[in-house]
Amino acid sequence: DSVKELGPHAFIVIGGTGDLAHRKLLPAFFKVLQNSKSEHSEQTGILVGVSLEDWDDERYRDWLIQLLHDSGLHTAELEAWCRKNAYYQPLAAESSAIAQSYESLASRLTEWDRKHQLEGNRVFYLAIPPKIFPETARQLAAAGLNSSSGWTRLVIEKPFGWNLQSAEELNKVLLERFDESQIYRIDHYLGKDTVQNLAIFRFANMMFESVWNRQSIRNVQITVSEDLGIGDRAGYYDKAGALRDMIQNHATQLLTLIAMDAPSRFYADAVRDEKLRVLRSIDPIPVENAVFGQYTAGESHGEAVPGYLEETGVPDNSTTESFIAIKVMIANWRWQGVPFYLRTGKRLPRKVTEIAIVFRDPPVRLFEPLGVCDSHPDVLRIRLQPDEAFQLSFDVKAPGEPLEVRQKTLEFSYRDAFEHIPDAYCSLIADVAAGDQTHFVRADEVEASWRMYAPLLDCPRKIAPYTAGSWGPSEADALLAANGDAWQTPIPEREKMN
Ligand code: BG6
Repeated sequence: DSVKELGPHAFIVIGGTGDLAHRKLLPAFFKVLQNSKSEHSEQTGILVGVSLEDWDDERYRDWLIQLLHDSGLHTAELEAWCRKNAYYQPLAAESSAIAQSYESLASRLTEWDRKHQLEGNRVFYLAIPPKIFPETARQLAAAGLNSSSGWTRLVIEKPFGWNLQSAEELNKVLLERFDESQIYRIDHYLGKDTVQNLAIFRFANMMFESVWNRQSIRNVQITVSEDLGIGDRAGYYDKAGALRDMIQNHATQLLTLIAMDAPSRFYADAVRDEKLRVLRSIDPIPVENAVFGQYTAGESHGEAVPGYLEETGVPDNSTTESFIAIKVMIANWRWQGVPFYLRTGKRLPRKVTEIAIVFRDPPVRLFEPLGVCDSHPDVLRIRLQPDEAFQLSFDVKAPGEPLEVRQKTLEFSYRDAFEHIPDAYCSLIADVAAGDQTHFVRADEVEASWRMYAPLLDCPRKIAPYTAGSWGPSEADALLAANGDAWQTPIPEREKMN
């Protein structure tokens, strides 16, 4: 999936036998390894699993080879690579002995540096529950693993804190031990190619950038909908809710990429500075600009499904939102007065991530006196997933008489134009190895985002029910109607051709 040059390094997965490692991270790691263009592929680094199981290297290698089979990635070459280049470091279960495990890891890493010519280059990927991020960062630093003779990078995945205060605390613990330039905070939406394309679309083309402002745009809508319910994740989800799970991170990243100004250069900090400037132009969002919803029993793709409160593990009186719609106002010169509507939810009609840019009406309705309806707004839809596409709709004169105006579309589809879109994790893993932080979240971005949503977190809330399989509660329509706006239904996915 990635053609980035991967220099030799140790890829150390803390939580190397866990669910995240098994499902997402390691399959992506092996894909990147397989596709890496390194001329020294014989020596392209090592993989080290660190976990609580009392295993040795051989046992971990067997487990990895089984994983290669299970994920359909097995080749003789990768199997041979695992036999030679994968290692395992058990972590002591008793807290008093953990420090020793990390010291042992440190001394083995020094050996491997020599044996595999790794030049001291290390990635520590924390594929562990977020509550042990701080302790793990402490242990790594205490064993001297926060620096080396080469480069050392630390990768963590969301959630980055639970609110502003916990995010600040986490950043503090990390930044006392690592430099910001070593920390790669993953929001996997930033690894999606179509999300990365937003900057290209906006800043490599003149046409749209010149209308990308309050003069031309009436509102912006970001929909991140999912058809699935919460599955077996009630333990996590009921504490999190849609705002923490999807809006504070993924949807907010999309918002900043759509709203930001052009960076001075396309490098990590210049890009992230501009994204941060957007977040800093948003006042904390008042509760009346949000609609919280919860699904009730309904239908998903023709099958009866239970309501949120009936899901296994959800308390009967839960007021956790499985849907949220928010109106965000950006007080800057480009966007003053233009609402950005964000919505996300579980058990909506289908899985789709789409951004709709709704343009203003022309200043004069020239054709209305002729009895012609010419009031459809032009809309640019950017469908980020699935069936990735751009669609621009505008009015056209239907040929012949009497005069009639119809809305038609111009479309660009990834499926028609490109063979394959890489996996987000692959592209992020390759970025970490290459030392490119552009698609990772900086500490100040995380904090600014939590600050913006602070009034909505744990506030007393009215929960609006919506039937599973619908586009959310009617209150979400009313939120837009109050401004004379309406949700744009995402464009339907095309049938896949065989
Ligand atoms: C995760 C959320 O971050 O993103 C999940 O925790 C959600 O609840 C997932 O389903 C969606 O990601 P994607 O890439 O499938 O859109």
